[in-house]
Amino acid sequence: MEQQRIRNFCIIAHIDHGKSTLADRFLEITGTVRPGEMKEQFLDQMDLERERGITIKGKAVTMKHRTPDGVDYQLNLIDTPGHVDFSYEVSRALAACEGALLVVDATQGVEAQTIANTLLALQYDMEMIPVINKVDLPSAEPERVAAEMEQFFGFRRDEVMFVSAKSGIGMQELLNCIVERVPAPKGAADKPFRALVFDSTYDSYKGIIAYVRVADGSMSKHDRLQVMSSGRSVEVIEVGVFSPEPTPIDVLNAGQVGYVATGFKDVQECAVGDTLTNQSNPSTEPLPGYVELKSMVFAGLYPADGEDYTRLRAALEKLKLNDASLSIEPENSGALGFGFRCGFLGLMHLEIVQERLEREYDLALIVTAPSVAYEVLLTNGEVMRVDNPSRLPSPTTISEIREPILGITIVTPNSSGLGDAEQARVVMEYTMPLAEMLADFYNQLKSRTQGYASLDYTFEGYRAAPLVRVDILVNQTPVEALSIISHRDNAVVHGRTLVEKLRSAIPRQMFEVPIQASIGTRIVARETVRAMRKDVLAKCYGGDITRKRKLLEKQKEGKKRMKMVGRVEVPQEAFLSLLKIG
Ligand code: GTP
Repeated sequence: MEQQRIRNFCIIAHIDHGKSTLADRFLEITGTVRPGEMKEQFLDQMDLERERGITIKGKAVTMKHRTPDGVDYQLNLIDTPGHVDFSYEVSRALAACEGALLVVDATQGVEAQTIANTLLALQYDMEMIPVINKVDLPSAEPERVAAEMEQFFGFRRDEVMFVSAKSGIGMQELLNCIVERVPAPKGAADKPFRALVFDSTYDSYKGIIAYVRVADGSMSKHDRLQVMSSGRSVEVIEVGVFSPEPTPIDVLNAGQVGYVATGFKDVQECAVGDTLTNQSNPSTEPLPGYVELKSMVFAGLYPADGEDYTRLRAALEKLKLNDASLSIEPENSGALGFGFRCGFLGLMHLEIVQERLEREYDLALIVTAPSVAYEVLLTNGEVMRVDNPSRLPSPTTISEIREPILGITIVTPNSSGLGDAEQARVVMEYTMPLAEMLADFYNQLKSRTQGYASLDYTFEGYRAAPLVRVDILVNQTPVEALSIISHRDNAVVHGRTLVEKLRSAIPRQMFEVPIQASIGTRIVARETVRAMRKDVLAKCYGGDITRKRKLLEKQKEGKKRMKMVGRVEVPQEAFLSLLKIG
């Protein structure tokens, strides 16, 4: 396909505004997928994604579209994830397109993520097509939403496309509009080959499959491919496009979106954001890549059953193959045994990883309270990164602790008369510590606005704050995994909350168990789990041995998800209940 007839575009939308449905309808209308084959939400391949209705990894699909004047075009749709945790993935997809459909639900209107993603897209200087979806619904207010799009982004009313991804209204017009408004890719066919890796998967036969957007030149099977960042080279096993299944083709040309099977075994050998070139005629200038997003949220993941450690490690390594933003580091906690300190992009990312481990790998896990990474300036002038509260060095060596700060955007209905009273919705901008966001902020925001507010955030940098470490002791034994770093003013309250929650979650033992919170050597809170009056076996003494065994077995069942802390059995729920320190 000639470059002038290629269009690369993506869809950006707030969650549930209909991105996947729109993609499905495109696939159907362009005949890319025959109606009988249509699985709902083709682009969301992972089960978990389909169930949760969110899109996690960017993917691509190639479609053919014939315009009313009979000309065939190749449309490459690159999928973008909708959730705030994944804005890194959104920016990868954006770098590979010339156009974006900005989809807004006609019954809802502009949301925080719409704003955040639009701002991101504008940085890439791309053609934006405003699309109002779900116009088939009786509660749709397309005119109000069009006015909002004008107000927030400056789109003209006559630029807005009105569609129903469900019923198909306006879909042909939208395809024609993409051909008309989105510019053809600019790359030069006669320059040395350059392609941007925007995603990758692993295939046990073909190795790492790099999803690429070709900027210049072309690449065929058997060409020698070179990774620009490392200089490593390899013979190309296969090139192809997604239509929507991976389909081998002879040659990938400038402007096209497709894949290159590299045979590499390790994702690091051909990382997302890298530029691929041709070894025999290499380009000298790599394409602008992406800013690598560092993990922002950290938590310890431990197998509930210590014997599952090796399985947990294998599972995490496998997940990491497809998820470069997940970081893993072995960790050994006195209380919890062997596990991993993992880094995530946000809470949602953490939840998804946990759920996949439990479901796909059948692992029972204990997840410690999530924390953020701090920058610690030591008195000797060194700066260290601390992503685990228990690793905070001694206070005497610390000159200052800096914490990650977010810039957040909230969009909410204007029920409280904020700002211009005429406006139906208000946009609020704040800065706040990331750690506060972890402490149930999102749930609170949702419940206080009856679910109407939407939220997005960007990382703004580190800022010094009066922070201290609060330790938790169960039966005089410090549980490192439960240590938290807290603002000095809130430390005692946080400590008390933790201790109270733990007290109510730990069942009575044979002996009295003190639960304490301390800052340094100072105990700031204490609760006691009182001793049990009778033990389970007491009534069986001298009795029937089989009955005794049965009881013990029952107990074992219940203990599956227990951890020994010192001599105390702590159920997994005790740890989980601490995830939500409000
Ligand atoms: P994420 O993948 O979570 O980002 O969601 P999404 O934006 O892909 O939304 P999705 O396509 O899953 O649509 C959300 C819901 O809206 C689904 O129940 C769809 O059936 C419904 N929906 C999407 N488009 C339309 C439409 O045009 N009309 C109507 N009535 N419902 C629609």
